[in-house]
Amino acid sequence: MASLFITVEGLDGSGKSTQLRLASDWLRQRGVDHRVTQEPGGTPLGESIRSVFLDLKEEWSTVDGTVEALMIFASRRQHLLEVIDPTLAGGAHVLCDRFTDSTIAYQGYGRGASLELLHRIDDLATGGRVPDHTLFFDLPAEVARQRGHSVVRQNEPGGVDRLDAEDLAFYERVRQGYLELANAAPERIRVIDSTGSIGETQQQVVVALTEICLLYTSPSPRDGETHLVCRLLLEKRGGGGGGGGGGGGGGGGGGG
Ligand code: TYD
Repeated sequence: MASLFITVEGLDGSGKSTQLRLASDWLRQRGVDHRVTQEPGGTPLGESIRSVFLDLKEEWSTVDGTVEALMIFASRRQHLLEVIDPTLAGGAHVLCDRFTDSTIAYQGYGRGASLELLHRIDDLATGGRVPDHTLFFDLPAEVARQRGHSVVRQNEPGGVDRLDAEDLAFYERVRQGYLELANAAPERIRVIDSTGSIGETQQQVVVALTEICLLYTSPSPRDGETHLVCRLLLEKRGGGGGGGGGGGGGGGGGGG
């Protein structure tokens, strides 16, 4: 089985970063070699771009969705070259917190940047790279907003980033963008209902990961043909637990 490039997507406050850590723990307990990473960021250059991107500066209020996308795609290209592709080539799976679906949803649907232009920039920066599988953690914008890290961070000095400061209508547009992306690519993007508890959402993630692995298992595998990942996942099927504490296999994301 080839190494898989799997992304998680969702609104800030959708719980995707927590679920990514739990999924990483679950895979690690089954001996599945993988690396966790995030966007914007994932490399030293990407982390620098991330801090500029999220910085809240009044004099930057005219920065539009296209400028944001150009920054994000610079980070993304470096991330592919430095982390994602070498990890996949080395035989490990990649679990990435956000990728191009975020740019389409946030800069396109949220900020109103031209989708056609975003696709052109994407072609240039990544060759139109699409993840193998994506888990979209869906919940209404209002609920995400209440749960979001912004609520906790609002009281801290410098605790609100530019995107935290956006209004509810912005997040509703972003969610709509995600739903349209999921509708257009149902074979790649699985919608995870994130309105329930962490445990309920995690159960859905375990089912999704198991199903993904089943896709790569031939119907009647010859002895030794089934990849270790699938075998271990299948053995544990039905045992949705296995989360618990501990960090993920790598970088890990923020509070989303
Ligand atoms: P972060 O604190 O990592 O939030 P989260 O844990 O929810 O991912 O901040 C990332 C922010 O960057 C988030 O608000 C979404 C935004 N973003 C975009 O607007 N476009 C993009 O292409 C990406 C990758 C992120």
